[in-house]
Amino acid sequence: MEIEQDIRLTDKDVDEALMVVTSSKQLQDVKMKFLGKTGRISELMKCMRDVIAEKKREVGQMLNELRVRTEDKFNVLNEKFKKKELEERYASETIDVTMPGKKSESGSFHPNTLVRGELISIFSGMGFEVFEGPEIENDYYNFTALNTPADHPARDMQDTFYLSPELLLRTQTSAGQIRVMENKKPPIKILSPGKVYRSDDDATHSPMFSQMEGLVVDKGITLCDLKGMLDEFAKKVFGDDVKTRLRPSYFPFTEPSVEVDVSCFECGGKGCRLCKGTGWIEVLGAGMVNRRVLEGCDIDPDKYSGFAFGMGIERIAMLKYGINNMKLLFEGDVRFLKQFKD
Ligand code: DAH
Repeated sequence: MEIEQDIRLTDKDVDEALMVVTSSKQLQDVKMKFLGKTGRISELMKCMRDVIAEKKREVGQMLNELRVRTEDKFNVLNEKFKKKELEERYASETIDVTMPGKKSESGSFHPNTLVRGELISIFSGMGFEVFEGPEIENDYYNFTALNTPADHPARDMQDTFYLSPELLLRTQTSAGQIRVMENKKPPIKILSPGKVYRSDDDATHSPMFSQMEGLVVDKGITLCDLKGMLDEFAKKVFGDDVKTRLRPSYFPFTEPSVEVDVSCFECGGKGCRLCKGTGWIEVLGAGMVNRRVLEGCDIDPDKYSGFAFGMGIERIAMLKYGINNMKLLFEGDVRFLKQFKD
């Protein structure tokens, strides 16, 4: 074939190839086919050396025009595709600033944490300091030193998880009282929050739950001091109109021992479902520290006296927030937990 014919054909083929191109990427491929190092136009250039001398000028000019024209066509199309693709990108990446934003959920405190924090804040306002004892306790601190020796019937009040004959999971934060009194002499005013364990499991009991213990020892402490402090505590936790009453009870480590009720904050004392018609709700155990417990800790019971109290944190949380099943406090269901905001 004559080279002139080949040049004209190439020109036509360029137009045909460009007609079906739809993106700058495809355009680049086509460009390589014609203008690349081994492309058709470059190959034609190489054929120049075989062209006879008289035609060299004319063919050279034709080839050069073909190259320049082809480059121009590519450049024009390239501009067009680049512009179109940029517009498409802008359109796809547009942010509608009027759309509602994605909300990141904020967490909430567990009801136990809320109550524990509230109690600590109330009692530290009255001068109590926080002491946290160990959850794995010696039998001595959990029972014996609390005037509950091995054969004492009161041990049956708390079904204990023993780890060994000497070690157990503490059944009451009262164990902390002894640890404090062994190390510190009066005046003592401590609060001891923490987890406790008992082999017990139903709608109002769990094998693991939390207690808050309080202990005050000083000269001249009486049951009136306990009652006054409890009145203050009950008003702060359950409301200003709430009253307290003491009922006689028994705990080995206190004498006398009392059970403390608050007047029902739901019905104001008239009687309702919450207080089971009695007008009163039991919230904690308390009493004057037994002389034998003080003696065991080398504190002279003729010089010093004290009161102690212990309450279940879950129980307070259930009363305060109207929760009817203790299991809800241990399941970790976010739908339940997120209802509690400080
Ligand atoms: N430790 C008792 C219990 O778990 C509660 C208690 C009662 C604690 C009387 C006290 C107290 O400090 O004085 O049932």
